[in-house]
Amino acid sequence: MQNKQIRLAARPIGNPKDTDFQLTIEELPLLSTNDVLVEVHQLSLDPAMRGWMNAARSYIRPVEIGEVMRAGGAGKVIASENPKFAVGDFVTGSPSIQQYWLAKEGKGVTKIDTRLAPLSIWLSTLGMTGMTAYFGLLDIGEAKEGDVVVVSGGAGAVGSVVGQVAKIKGCRVVGIAGGQDKVDYMLNELGYDAAIDYRAGNLRTALRKACPEGIDVYFDNVGGEILDTCLSMLRMKARVVICGAISQYNATEGVSGPKNYLSLLVNRAKMEGFVVFDYASRYAEAAMAMGQWLREGKMKSKEHIVEGGVEDFLPTLMTLFEGDKIGKLILKLV
Ligand SMILES: NC(=O)c1ccc[n+]([C@@H]2O[C@H](COP(=O)([O-])OP(=O)(O)OC[C@H]3O[C@@H](n4cnc5c(N)ncnc54)[C@H](OP(=O)(O)O)[C@@H]3O)[C@@H](O)[C@H]2O)c1
Repeated sequence: MQNKQIRLAARPIGNPKDTDFQLTIEELPLLSTNDVLVEVHQLSLDPAMRGWMNAARSYIRPVEIGEVMRAGGAGKVIASENPKFAVGDFVTGSPSIQQYWLAKEGKGVTKIDTRLAPLSIWLSTLGMTGMTAYFGLLDIGEAKEGDVVVVSGGAGAVGSVVGQVAKIKGCRVVGIAGGQDKVDYMLNELGYDAAIDYRAGNLRTALRKACPEGIDVYFDNVGGEILDTCLSMLRMKARVVICGAISQYNATEGVSGPKNYLSLLVNRAKMEGFVVFDYASRYAEAAMAMGQWLREGKMKSKEHIVEGGVEDFLPTLMTLFEGDKIGKLILKLV
């Protein structure tokens, strides 16, 4: 059997481009004892992938030049030499950008129950994305009833879960995202109390109007000027959750850091970063809570699913940076 893969060919400078990747076709080897072969159905496309292309030290090792591009995903077991997995099982893990995932000794493969939720939800709200939102908001942000929670990337994968969980917890939620469609979505579909289009200009004025008494929790997905503006509006004892900084991921001249950080001093506030993988031992807790909210209709899971082949990886990934999608970005291999 042949396996189409996308490998990292060069470390991108600025926006990743076609020549940074290479399409390869490889014969699948025979399975050894305990190996599992998964037909990859859906790939999770995440902003973090841009960081993994860099050589810099991070929370996870970089993807090496020539290596198949790392990616989360889900699929079906089509051959198994491992007693824990049977042909036909649906699984998630980190299959990388390829059609077939040969998981040596079944490492990193997790069984999922597609009667409870479809694959796409296992990659979004019930997957790494939802876990990030849940623990970032509740553990790092310590959001509680009555708090004013502001979330950037508020219509995106992580952001839309953050805003909805904050609403469930009795917070006042203000979402920030680009464009009127996303503003309408945050207000009408996600039930936020206010929503702001940062591309319309005047973010500061709009934020003052939406949270006249300031911000208790700012969940930052984007960094840059939006982070700076939110820092200038913190309340006493506010918590700033550093989840990500997508506005900086393709920067060629270094990350631009926050100017208004002294607001942390004045307001006895704190700013803390986190990596979702540190919560792996508690994923079940979050999945139970959010699974329940989904079943009760208190929460919605939205996925933006693009159908294509592994060769569609790069143009699809770039929609993360161009802003033209709502919810979790998934490449469905057809
Ligand atoms: N710490 C962790 O463990 C962890 C885990 C997962 C994800 N993350 C981080 O969480 C953040 C959100 O990830 P996601 O998967 O949910 O992505 P996402 O929000 O679904 O997609 C990215 C969104 O970012 C916005 N964006 C792009 N460029 C921007 C810019 N220059 N300024 C402001 N907004 C911009 C776009 O929406 P607009 O149209 O609104 O601009 C785009 O839709 C990322 O920073 C990611 O790295 C962290």
